[in-house]
Amino acid sequence: MTIYTALLQQADTLKKTHMKDLFATDPKRFDRFHLKTGPFLLDYSKNNITPETMRLLLQLAEESGLRQAIDAQFSGQKINTTENRAVLHTALRNRSDNPVFVDGRDVMPDIRAVLAQMHTFSDAVRNQTWRGATGKPITDVVNIGIGGSDLGPAMAMQALEFYKTDAISFHFVSNIDGTDITRVLNKCRPETTLFIISSKTFTTQETLTNATTARAWLTAALGDTAVEKHFVAVSTNKTAVQAFGINPDNMFVFWDFVGGRYSLWSAIGLSLMIGIGYDHFIEMLTGAYEMDMHFKTAPFDKNMPVIMGLLGVWYTTYMGAESYAVLPYDQYLSRLPAYLQQLDMESNGKSVKKNGHAVDYKTGPILFGEPGTNGQHSFYQLIHQGTHLIPVDFIAPVHSLNETGNHHAILLANMVAQAEALMRGKTADEVRAEGVDEALIPFKTFSGNRPSNILLFDRMTPRVFGALVALYEHKVFVQGIIWNIDSFDQWGVELGKQLAKVVLPELQDKNKPLAHDNSTNALIDHIRTNRLNV
Ligand code: F6P
Repeated sequence: MTIYTALLQQADTLKKTHMKDLFATDPKRFDRFHLKTGPFLLDYSKNNITPETMRLLLQLAEESGLRQAIDAQFSGQKINTTENRAVLHTALRNRSDNPVFVDGRDVMPDIRAVLAQMHTFSDAVRNQTWRGATGKPITDVVNIGIGGSDLGPAMAMQALEFYKTDAISFHFVSNIDGTDITRVLNKCRPETTLFIISSKTFTTQETLTNATTARAWLTAALGDTAVEKHFVAVSTNKTAVQAFGINPDNMFVFWDFVGGRYSLWSAIGLSLMIGIGYDHFIEMLTGAYEMDMHFKTAPFDKNMPVIMGLLGVWYTTYMGAESYAVLPYDQYLSRLPAYLQQLDMESNGKSVKKNGHAVDYKTGPILFGEPGTNGQHSFYQLIHQGTHLIPVDFIAPVHSLNETGNHHAILLANMVAQAEALMRGKTADEVRAEGVDEALIPFKTFSGNRPSNILLFDRMTPRVFGALVALYEHKVFVQGIIWNIDSFDQWGVELGKQLAKVVLPELQDKNKPLAHDNSTNALIDHIRTNRLNV
């Protein structure tokens, strides 16, 4: 029997087994199914698993070549096969003296040089030696970027807000919707605003359009010569940065072995470094590095990203889950689900194996989430009583950075209770025993047996944060290896971009002939007739 068949059979059994009974028959279930590493405690005992399930999943990891894949990633092999690239965001946070080779060349000196350049620049902005064209210190930093060139620094800036300077306001503009940049520019003054144009390719339509609007806003007030003191760029594409008119001395490079959604650790984190300072940024890299070392060296049964990745595969491929919720009980992590949507869904939203053949199993899930307790008052109803199986990750700090009365105890009580409720449910007899009207009993009954992980850490620090993000990066990697897909390309975003280029001139000229399907033709016609007649 193949491991695939064995796991399908295992899933058939587990679908008929209630977790409540598994807890009742195994007083050591928590001991068996929890892990500690670095700052984290992961309780994964409230999952639809038995020791046999985990044994089979670990066998699946071995048979999928996960060990070799981890080594291949860290050693700079070109595991992004469709783009023929190495995948080395881990080199960006390599805090050891070990070299990391790509095509026989050690990339660490270049990485350290850019870190030093970021250090000098971020210090200069923070201590006001870098000034605007009229000699005023910078009060507002605007990062213009989208996808990985926005979500990482934007999410991290929120997560680490406690450590951020109050002297500078930070803004993130990503959307092509003019409302995004208009609202930010309305809050800023040209003389004291610094724009960081962040784009790996420096060809992204949204970013270049927003950057052009920002430059026009600045030069209208201060003239062309001001660009030098108010615009810097982060990119892999020097030529395009120069063509845009940014002085190459004001450019921070990174490399094509850093995927966009993995670029927070590179110069894409420049706004963050200005916000939290170099030392905190390095702490963040150190936390990520420590998680890298854990992932690289821990045996699979004690390896947190491996265990979380295997559970992800278990639910998606074997138990029939379509989605997955990440629910941080930490207001600082409120953008984490949005960040993880790109990380997970852009990486593993694939239906073709590495050999080009279609998969015949489910791959990456639909990820969503909101911070607790807010989500409890909106979509949790469906997680508790709906018809979908939705595995959940709860994430929380044991201590708040803002201990306020008993808020944090209430927050944690809610999280622990949600996990318990999802697992245990409430039987009709329990409802009846409460004296509930017989007609209402079906509505007030909870099936339970719904899985969750709880990930606890002590308190939010840059180091913990770095480790947390790296944990999820590696979890996504594990799943991609087992599904045998390329987690590092994103061809699925291209078709819409291409078609938008065809549609744009059609929207701007009402006589342009249309040759789409008749729905698309009618929509274009409706929009252009209305817009061009105003
Ligand atoms: O369109 C998707 C994407 O390529 C993402 O992968 C990337 O993070 C984002 O666009 C932005 O790309 P860039 O940094 O090159 O502007």
